[in-house]
Amino acid sequence: MGPILEIENVSLQFGGVKALDNVSYHIEKGEIFSLIGPNGAGKTSMLNCISGLYQPTGGSIRYKGQEIINMKPYNRTTLGIARAFQNIALFAHMSVLDNLKLGRHTLMKSGALSGGLYIGKSSNEEIEHRKKVEEVIEFLELQDIRHTPVGTLPYGLQKRVEVGRALALGPELILLDEPMAGMNSTEKDLMARFILDMHEVMEITVVLIEHDLGIVMNLSDHIAVLDFGKRIGFGTPEEIQKNPDVIKAYIGEETFI
Ligand SMILES: Nc1ncnc2c1ncn2[C@@H]1O[C@H](COP(=O)(O)OP(=O)(O)OP(=O)(O)O)[C@@H](O)[C@H]1O
Ligand SMILES: [Mg+2]
Repeated sequence: MGPILEIENVSLQFGGVKALDNVSYHIEKGEIFSLIGPNGAGKTSMLNCISGLYQPTGGSIRYKGQEIINMKPYNRTTLGIARAFQNIALFAHMSVLDNLKLGRHTLMKSGALSGGLYIGKSSNEEIEHRKKVEEVIEFLELQDIRHTPVGTLPYGLQKRVEVGRALALGPELILLDEPMAGMNSTEKDLMARFILDMHEVMEITVVLIEHDLGIVMNLSDHIAVLDFGKRIGFGTPEEIQKNPDVIKAYIGEETFI
C-alpha cells in the first residue's frame, strides 16, 4: 500500500548527546511497526520528532508524502497522527469520559466553548465527537469506569485510558510509547489484543515502543532497532532475531530469543 511515514536521516542533539543519529526508515500503511532498543536508545525522542514535540537538528519526516518536519504538533494531530505518552498525560481528577472528550476538543473547529452550547454548526460536531468517544470507550472496554476519576484507577487501567485519549482523536497513525509498561501479564495480553484490533478492525497504522520482546515479536510486521541514537537493525521479527548487531546490543537481556 506504500509508506504512510518516511523518516530520512533524522538527527537530534541535546548538548553533547546524540539522541538520534541519521536515522532512516519507512513505515507502511496499515502495519504494526515496533521501535525497540535499550534504555536511552532514542525511542521516545523519535516519537517526539514524529509528533512534533522535538525539532530534529536535521533530516526529513514525510507523512503521506507531505513534509511535516516544521509543522506544529496540533497540525500533525489534525492530519491524523496521535500519540500516547510513556508518562501518562491525563487529568487525574477528571473522569475517564471527560479525559477522552477533552482530547477531542482540541480537534473541534467550533472550539470547546461553543461546542458546549449545542447550537448551529457545533451540534453536528458535538454529535460526531461523542460518537467517537463512545466508540473508544466500548472498544477499550472502559464502560464500567467511565465516570471514575483517572487518578484513582490502578496504573494498568490509567495506561489504557492514555491509549484511549490518543485513539479518541480518530488517528490514521497512532504512536504508542510503552503502552504495556507496569502491566501484569493478563493486562499485557489484553493490551496486545487491543493493538491487534486497532490494526485489523480500525485499520490504524501502529508505531509501538515496547520492552517486552516476546510481545514485539508476536505483534510486529516490521521492527527498527535503535542503540545510542543509531539505527542498528531493521526488518521482520525473524530477520531481527538473526541480526548479529541486534543480538550484540541485547547481550545480557534474558528476554531476547
Ligand atoms: N529533553 C531532553 N533533554 C536532554 N536530553 C534528552 C532529552 N530527551 C531525551 N534526552 C536524552 O536523549 C537520549 C535518548 O532518550 P530517549 O528518552 O529518547 O530514550 P528511550 O529509548 O525512549 O529510553 P527508555 O527506554 O528509557 O524510555 C538519552 O540519552 C536522554 O537522556
Ligand atoms: Mg522512552
